[in-house]
Amino acid sequence: MNNLLTIEQLSAAELTALIDSAVVLKAERGHHSKLPLEGQTWAMIFTKASTRTRVSFEVGVRELGGTALFLSKNDIQLGRGEPIKDTARVLGRMCHGAIIRTFAQQDVVDFAEFSGIPTINALTDDEHPCQILADLLTIREKLGGWEGKKIAWVGDGFSNMTISWMWAAKILGFEFAVACPANYAPSDEFLSKLDAPNVTICHSPAEAVAGADVINTDVWLSMGEEGQTEKEAAFGPFQVNAELLASAAEGHIVLHCLPAYRGKEITEEVLESQADTIFQQAENRLHAQKAVLAALVKK
Ligand code: CP
Ligand code: NVA
Repeated sequence: MNNLLTIEQLSAAELTALIDSAVVLKAERGHHSKLPLEGQTWAMIFTKASTRTRVSFEVGVRELGGTALFLSKNDIQLGRGEPIKDTARVLGRMCHGAIIRTFAQQDVVDFAEFSGIPTINALTDDEHPCQILADLLTIREKLGGWEGKKIAWVGDGFSNMTISWMWAAKILGFEFAVACPANYAPSDEFLSKLDAPNVTICHSPAEAVAGADVINTDVWLSMGEEGQTEKEAAFGPFQVNAELLASAAEGHIVLHCLPAYRGKEITEEVLESQADTIFQQAENRLHAQKAVLAALVKK
């Protein structure tokens, strides 16, 4: 593994090895026997807002012995139009790795190619691989694993989160049931590329959630979609609430990558009743990403 740009590009062995490593790193937090990033400086280029991803990477890089250099787009010439390939060739000569949150997936692909240093996708419009690793770690901790489990998704069917989840389902083989409005479903082109019979798409939250062990949701409007009132209006029936969860499997958990908008995609009641899981999921960003960092410097 040279980069983490997508879930799509990971094998089942790589994906499970990252979760295994995250379990160990979590247990060893505060007394790591090795500091794989010692002497290294990792650039963090963010052109979108972030709480969890930024803090977990800054802390994670430091805990593995390295230094994190946070660069918002307004701090660097990228924000004034310097091409990504030039930024990449400069940082590639000074830094040991890069963590990028931006809009276009092509920008992280180009950065990895032109910089030549390990590059991590910290969220693009197309994928959020780091979040899915933390979510899988949480499922392993709370339910013992994803094997034989039904995982439901209620909300935007074709967002960065859903796309990364659909690839994880394809790679790991668990049942993944998406309930989304008809206009916000994965494209036929994507589904034929995915080619995963264990991933199903419907427009009924009740159908997707029936018997589900994990119920997953996310904001109705992703970063960059603010003000799309027509899109938001389509999601009214796609709220995760107590009534919907009544048909879920006994012992189910609810996941939300956060930030959450209570009263929209999830009720206050559900979020607070599942807060133990949801904030464990947020904490797991740190452990999962430390596993990614360690894997990228080892290679
Ligand atoms: N879930 C997540 O990526 O959160 P942030 O946007 O706060 O980083
Ligand atoms: N789909 C959301 C995820 C936020 C962590 C977004 O892109 O805004």
